Amino acid sequence: MSTRDSEYGGNDSELTAVVHDAAEIVTVEEDGSLGIYEDAAVAVVDGKVARIGATGPVTREYPPEDARLSVDASGKAVIPGFIDSHTHALFAGDRSDEFEAKLRGKTYQEILSEGGGILRTVRAVREASDEELLSNLVSQLDTMLAHGTTTVEIKSGYGLDTETELRMLKVIARADDRHAVDVIPTFMGAHAIPENRDADDYVDEVVEEQIPAVAEQGIAQFCDVFCEEGVFSVEQSRRVLRAGKEYGMTPKVHAEELAHIGGTQLAAELGATSADHLLYATEEDVEAVVESSVVPVLLPGTAFGLGAEFADARAFLDAGAPVAVATDFNPNCYSQSMGFAASLSCVEMGMTPAEALVAGTKHAGMALDMEDGSGTLQPGTSGDIAVLDAPSYVHVPYNFGVNAVETVLKGGEVVHRV
Ligand code: NIG
Ligand code: FE
Repeated sequence: MSTRDSEYGGNDSELTAVVHDAAEIVTVEEDGSLGIYEDAAVAVVDGKVARIGATGPVTREYPPEDARLSVDASGKAVIPGFIDSHTHALFAGDRSDEFEAKLRGKTYQEILSEGGGILRTVRAVREASDEELLSNLVSQLDTMLAHGTTTVEIKSGYGLDTETELRMLKVIARADDRHAVDVIPTFMGAHAIPENRDADDYVDEVVEEQIPAVAEQGIAQFCDVFCEEGVFSVEQSRRVLRAGKEYGMTPKVHAEELAHIGGTQLAAELGATSADHLLYATEEDVEAVVESSVVPVLLPGTAFGLGAEFADARAFLDAGAPVAVATDFNPNCYSQSMGFAASLSCVEMGMTPAEALVAGTKHAGMALDMEDGSGTLQPGTSGDIAVLDAPSYVHVPYNFGVNAVETVLKGGEVVHRV
């Protein structure tokens, strides 16, 4: 380790890493465009990006040999680590047979109404021990990290009772402590109506019992709800999200995923951070999102897995909305890969590779209320970096079905290397 006093901005500053000779380094600018530096280097001091530019000048100021770690990125592209802003990554059990059933023509709602889908995962999660849940989640986080994800949002919602919802959120907090990937927790007690329960009666429980209990533990930043035909109505969703807000949790909404019922307008009315899915969003919904600064989070993997129409990403982009794209990783949408989501964004939703990259980095950070420039790789932000085994960022969507990520740094530390 080499620490040169005062040279890197403070007496105890340490040159954490220098990634040099990259074919290109991609940043996201204030206006949401990409900054592309060719033959470039990035220096990370005390875990934060200090300087990006041509390799020559950057390495003269920050010599790689002085760094705790130097990465030769010759021929490779360097991008901000992905922020996966919508997942249900903590679960137990296996639903691969439902994939086959869907291929044979069964719908998501039919599976759910027969006690499968979310309800089946709920049974598996209730039966699993904390240690099993933790080990499942850690292994999913390993996979996500290997695909370049450095921050991930994870929802509860497979407990559907106070005890199991709290258990899920505690496991999420433990995984955050032990894993390099940063985890942002969302409470989603209103994810489905538990078996043999009346929806209003269950909403009472979420509002009166679950939300206060979660808030007391301080273990969820957001409160989400499945506002959907046959699940929670707009009125029920409003009750849940208002209660969450009163207890300090910021609203998010699963909106217009399987049908249009008005979840997007609700998100706008409540000042939600994001409205997610939006497959059936209307022109009015696009306007509402833009006017209220709700971030539209599109989840093309879900449409792909359901064989459904994709969300109209262009309508949101052309209206000036900061479109985010996430995996929605869950047993119904079994992909941990932000790269695959980017491929679908380009091929199926008409986004450019640049728009897809911004959607999985800067805009994804906005969908999680991260106000520290996360996902931009700008000086002063955390050194969360993915080095690709490819010469340009376009390879992320272009090389569909294959992980283009080779090395991942979190706060300038190498946390994954092929
Ligand atoms: O975002 N829509 C609700 N929740 C998930 C699916 C969860 C599941 O099927 O287990 C989603 O698609
Ligand atoms: Fe979801």
